[in-house]
Amino acid sequence: MVKVKILPDKVNASEEVAQTLHDLIVEKPNAVIGVATGSTPELAYELLAEKIKEHNTDVSQLQFFALDEYIGLPWDHPESYHAVINRTVTVPLGVEPSQVHVPEAPDDATEGPVRYYDEHIEAAGGIDLQLLGIGRNGHIGFNEPGTPFDAPTHVGRLTDMTRQDNSRFFDSVDEVPPLAVTQGIGTILKSRKAILMAFGEAKADAIRDSLAQPPAEDRPGSGLQLHSDCVFYLDEAAAAKV
Ligand code: GLP
Repeated sequence: MVKVKILPDKVNASEEVAQTLHDLIVEKPNAVIGVATGSTPELAYELLAEKIKEHNTDVSQLQFFALDEYIGLPWDHPESYHAVINRTVTVPLGVEPSQVHVPEAPDDATEGPVRYYDEHIEAAGGIDLQLLGIGRNGHIGFNEPGTPFDAPTHVGRLTDMTRQDNSRFFDSVDEVPPLAVTQGIGTILKSRKAILMAFGEAKADAIRDSLAQPPAEDRPGSGLQLHSDCVFYLDEAAAAKV
């Protein structure tokens, strides 16, 4: 089931999400939190970091699991998701790198260590709160259109649109890896609660396609309708076509 919260702007929405995260951490100091990359959740991470500092909140028992990682980028590449999560989550929140897990991308794109990611999440107790953004074509994590809704963590091929959109972080589109490892939609659906954030008119079609019609695998975001507790935090522009 998806609930929709439409807020006047990204700042208001990010503040509510940061407060929700902080409430969870206070209530459950050993919470397991799923974190997303992309520019959308960055402000929520910054606001959460401020709250943690302000309240001197204990973060020493938290566990974090990232959604995805490119295949073929070394971990010390500034746009590898290992590096992005370190920069936006690990360091600002003041948690140890050992508390933060990012899928390991096998060099040869075989499923090898990939499938163990879901077992690792389960061994940690399962994800209490999964944060998500959404791509213009409706992808969540790197689950592109056509990904089965029951997929576990797996290797997937990025669409041209996704590579083009993410090329803003690289010198050219050719540098954006064509393959990634991602938590599957099946993995995401196992989280106890999920929050998807989307801001700006560029996301309006993806949000409409996620909410306005029954779930279908060519619209990955619509798979969240099958989640037991999912909230979409939208600004007015992203919600314009719902
Ligand atoms: C990437 C990530 C997604 C993210 C998407 C949208 O493709 N793998 O998890 O939701 O980008 O990014 P942004 O928030 O920058 O629009």
